[in-house]
Amino acid sequence: MLELAESGKDAYRVERYAIVPLPKDAVADGNIAKPEAVEAAVGDAWRLLGTRTREVALALPSSVVMSKKVLVSAKAGDAEIEAQIHAEANQMASFPIDEIRLDYQVIGASAKTQGDNEAILVMSRRDRVEERVAIAEAVGLKAVIMDVDNLAALTAYAQLASQLPGGGARKTVAIVDIGANFTHINILHDNNPVFQRTHAFGGYILTKEIARRFSLSTEEAEAAKRRGSLPENYRTEVLPPFLDSAAQEIMRSLQLFFSSATYQSVDHILLCGGCAALPGLMDAVRDKTQTHVLPANPFARMALSPQVGAQRLSEDAPMLFVACGLALRRFDRT
Ligand SMILES: Nc1ncnc2c1ncn2[C@@H]1O[C@H](COP(=O)(O)OP(=O)(O)OP(=O)(O)O)[C@@H](O)[C@H]1O
Ligand SMILES: [Mg+2]
Repeated sequence: MLELAESGKDAYRVERYAIVPLPKDAVADGNIAKPEAVEAAVGDAWRLLGTRTREVALALPSSVVMSKKVLVSAKAGDAEIEAQIHAEANQMASFPIDEIRLDYQVIGASAKTQGDNEAILVMSRRDRVEERVAIAEAVGLKAVIMDVDNLAALTAYAQLASQLPGGGARKTVAIVDIGANFTHINILHDNNPVFQRTHAFGGYILTKEIARRFSLSTEEAEAAKRRGSLPENYRTEVLPPFLDSAAQEIMRSLQLFFSSATYQSVDHILLCGGCAALPGLMDAVRDKTQTHVLPANPFARMALSPQVGAQRLSEDAPMLFVACGLALRRFDRT
């Protein structure tokens, strides 16, 4: 959980943040399997945060969302666009339209067909939305925005583009988010999304292997991994194969992207998600892909309130990437 404040035009200050681990299996494949456990974690995080703010922006995991780019005539009015979006949604959905929550945003002129705008349509089963809103409400919070994790990452990316040479203009940049169970890859060209892929790979694989090798429970393994308090052969024997697979998976996604024939190279790879904290990951990815790799720290240019430590924040930043994109929605004027 992260709170940002505005500090001048297009400038932000990190007010406070809190990270609370969820028990294993509380959320499985993007579904909330144990609402009480999630409620407890969200409540704990809010108390740790120590804020008076009760309004929150939440995200659905992209695994429970369907999205599609839709071409709409640049001349179409709101009502016409809405009708077209609903018709598209009706075609995509495998269940009744009244069980769905959907939203769309017109992104800009289509690169392919003149006179058309590109809109992005996202939809999810309504209970996926409502169960999350209910959790916020159960701990006294009010959900005012429901985003999608992948799209929130793109919002946070805007803070990073300015750190890249030339502001990312005309460059191809891959944002790689390695979480607990999933890896999301978003590729942007000239700061516009051109490719995305999600595959089942994440830090839980490493946690399980640590538990097995050192005879720990998964909770103990998880804590030891984060603290870095494991026997020497963790670094020499257990970690390297995981880093290798992570790099291999990323390479595979890049090759898939290249096979689309429009693009032959990527200029930068930005790493985020909890696994970005793993020692050696950056090197492994750089060696495998032969690409410039950097950690995704969207706070690098933000001011920090006195209670936020710069060192700790830079370590935690990759894990807060989606949260950052969500918090930034408060200042979104479009
Ligand atoms: N300091 C750390 N060192 C190593 N691994 C870490 C560290 N902090 C978190 N992780 C790992 O990162 C993973 C969690 O990352 P993150 O919070 O991005 O996942 P998530 O978004 O909840 O999961 P998913 O995207 O798969 O649904 C876990 O596997 C955790 O063990
Ligand atoms: Mg994630």
